[in-house]
Amino acid sequence: MALLFFGNADRVAEWLPELRRAMPDRDIRVWPDAGDLSEIRYSLGFAPPEGVLASLPNLRAIFSTGAGVDGTLRDPTVPADVPIVRMVEQGLTEGMTEYVVMHVLAWHRDLWTYAGMQAAGEWRKLDQTLARDRRVGVMGLGVLGEDAARMLAALRFDVAGWSRTAKEIPGVACFAGEEGLGPFLARTEILVCLLPLTAQTRGIMDRGLLSRLPRGAVLVNVARGQHLVEEDLVALLDEGHLAGATLDVFREEPLPEAHPFWRHPKVRTTPHIASITLAPSASREVARQIARFEAGEPLENVVDRARGY
Ligand SMILES: NC(=O)c1ccc[n+]([C@@H]2O[C@H](COP(=O)([O-])OP(=O)(O)OC[C@H]3O[C@@H](n4cnc5c(N)ncnc54)[C@H](OP(=O)(O)O)[C@@H]3O)[C@@H](O)[C@H]2O)c1
Repeated sequence: MALLFFGNADRVAEWLPELRRAMPDRDIRVWPDAGDLSEIRYSLGFAPPEGVLASLPNLRAIFSTGAGVDGTLRDPTVPADVPIVRMVEQGLTEGMTEYVVMHVLAWHRDLWTYAGMQAAGEWRKLDQTLARDRRVGVMGLGVLGEDAARMLAALRFDVAGWSRTAKEIPGVACFAGEEGLGPFLARTEILVCLLPLTAQTRGIMDRGLLSRLPRGAVLVNVARGQHLVEEDLVALLDEGHLAGATLDVFREEPLPEAHPFWRHPKVRTTPHIASITLAPSASREVARQIARFEAGEPLENVVDRARGY
C-alpha cells in the first residue's frame, strides 16, 4: 500500500520527512525509485510526468500538492476512474487571503505611488478613499476566493464575487454565470482572480473582459498565468485603461528575463508565492484523507473531471 511522491530534489528534501512523520507506517517512495509499481496505491505531486500515473495498475487515489489540478490534468493519460484529490488545507487558504488583502490594500492606499514619490523625493498628498467606498471583485468563490472575499468584507471593502453557480455569502454581492459577469465587472475597481484553470477559464482575462472594468481599475492575478492574455494587459496598462496589476503567476514560469512585466512601471510581480503548500500541514491532510479512505469513507475535495476543477 505504498505512496509515490513526485517532486524535484528540493521538494523531496522538504516533503519526505514530513510525509514519514505524518504516516510512519506507510511505505513512501519517491519517483523514479518506485520499485514494484503494482504496490503503489496513492500518488502525491503537482505535475507527475506524463504517462506515469497510467502505468500504476493498482492506483486508488491521486493527491495533488496544489489547490489547482491543472498540473495533473495536463497529462491526457491520467486514468479516468481514479479520483483526483486537490489540496484544501487551512494554511493554504490563510496564506492566500493574506496575500490578497496585502495587495488590495496596497493598491487601495496608493502604496506604490507613495513608494515612487519617496524615491523621487516628492512630498504630496493624494486623495484618500475609505475601503467602504472601494469596490473589490473576486472572480472564483471557491475555498480560496470565498475566504479572501469574506476577509476583504471584514475590512469594510465593498466586495462582490463571481462564480459559475449562484452563491450566498454574507457581506459579499454574489454574481454568477455569463449573465452575472457584465454587472460584476462594471462595478469592480480592484479585480482579484482566483479561478481554477479549465478549458472555460483559459485566457478569460483578455482585452474584451478587462475593458469591461471601469477606467483606472487594477488587477490582482493569483490564480494561473494562463488565465491572462498578457499582451492585452500590457496594452490596457499602456493605454491608461488599467492603472496597475499585481501578478503572482505567469504564462511562462520562471518569468523570462526579457519579459516586459519585470520592468513595467504599473506591474508588481512575485514568483508564484501567493500561497505555498506547506509540507507539514499538507502531509497531515494527505494522511487524514488516506485514513478516511481506508476506513471506507469517501475522499473529500475530489475533482470533477468533467468540470476540470
Ligand atoms: N498563486 C498561488 O500561489 C496559488 C495557490 C493556490 C491556488 N491557486 C489557484 O487558485 C485556484 C482556486 O483555488 P480554490 O481552492 O479556491 O478552487 P475551488 O474551490 O475549486 O473554487 C473555484 C471557484 O471558481 C469558480 N469557477 C470555476 N469555473 C468557473 C467559470 N467557468 N466561471 C465562473 N466561475 C468559475 C467556481 O464556481 P462554483 O463555486 O460555482 O463551482 C468556484 O467558485 C486554484 O485552481 C489555483 O489555480 C494559486
